[in-house]
Amino acid sequence: MNVAIIGYGKMGKEVEKLLLPYHRISCIIDIHNVDQINNLHAYNTDVAIEFTTPESAVNNILLCFKQNIPVVCGTTGWYDKFDIIKNACSQYNATLFYATNFSIGVNIYFYIIKHAAQILKKHINTYSIQIEEIHHTQKKDSPSGTAITMSKILMNEIPEIKTWVNYINNSIVNTTIHELPIISKRISDVVGTHKLQFLSEIDEIIIEHKAHNRKGFALGAIKAAEFIVGKKGIFTMNDLLEIN
Ligand SMILES: NC(=O)c1ccc[n+]([C@@H]2O[C@H](COP(=O)([O-])OP(=O)(O)OC[C@H]3O[C@@H](n4cnc5c(N)ncnc54)[C@H](O)[C@@H]3O)[C@@H](O)[C@H]2O)c1
Repeated sequence: MNVAIIGYGKMGKEVEKLLLPYHRISCIIDIHNVDQINNLHAYNTDVAIEFTTPESAVNNILLCFKQNIPVVCGTTGWYDKFDIIKNACSQYNATLFYATNFSIGVNIYFYIIKHAAQILKKHINTYSIQIEEIHHTQKKDSPSGTAITMSKILMNEIPEIKTWVNYINNSIVNTTIHELPIISKRISDVVGTHKLQFLSEIDEIIIEHKAHNRKGFALGAIKAAEFIVGKKGIFTMNDLLEIN
């Protein structure tokens, strides 16, 4: 596979490291050579892997669509524009794989919290529920896309929860049963930690996922790229993994 890396920051560099033994890199695009994204075919690109910023991801995806290059997007924080991307994907008969978290461990974690919620929902009056996410201080979006996915899983399983509310660097929260608190903390060098907490006066149940490095995200994005070549439409981790 000839892979274009769009965004040469922490994730772009990790993807490059893990791609090289198995695939070729057609081009690496960052802000200093952003115009090259209009010319992906000139570099014999089969697929693009995009890890940039919430502000640039939508445009980058659209530019890949227009050139008929399948794109894997790991950038989070742009999902309020998802309908634009969905419509463009069908208009251009294009291909997108997106995930709030490409790590296989986190996707197993999503499965575990779904089943935990199915059990705990009968005890919603005993336990209050909250999510805590901790990331490095350069992270631009808050809460994390992973925490938003967790809250969607909980809202699907526990009808009493209607919405999530974000608290930044604040662990003291006063919410109703209908509001799920997501506490976001920014601490230097933390790759990504997510905790689902069921708290009562008597005890607490905490289910935690902690990423030790970025390798899992990059490997998942490369697997996603291998998966979408030759396919059309929008795909996510449930299509790649046999986890339901
Ligand atoms: N889905 C996942 O599994 C996962 C995992 C880790 C990080 N992320 C997300 O991926 C994104 C990138 O993370 P990172 O840690 O690599 O960030 P980073 O800040 O280290 O790198 C982002 C890079 O994108 C470049 N960039 C900005 N605008 C651009 C544009 N228009 N075209 C090309 N390049 C551009 C920047 O110059 C920078 O080098 C963030 O949104 C982060 O939350 C997702």
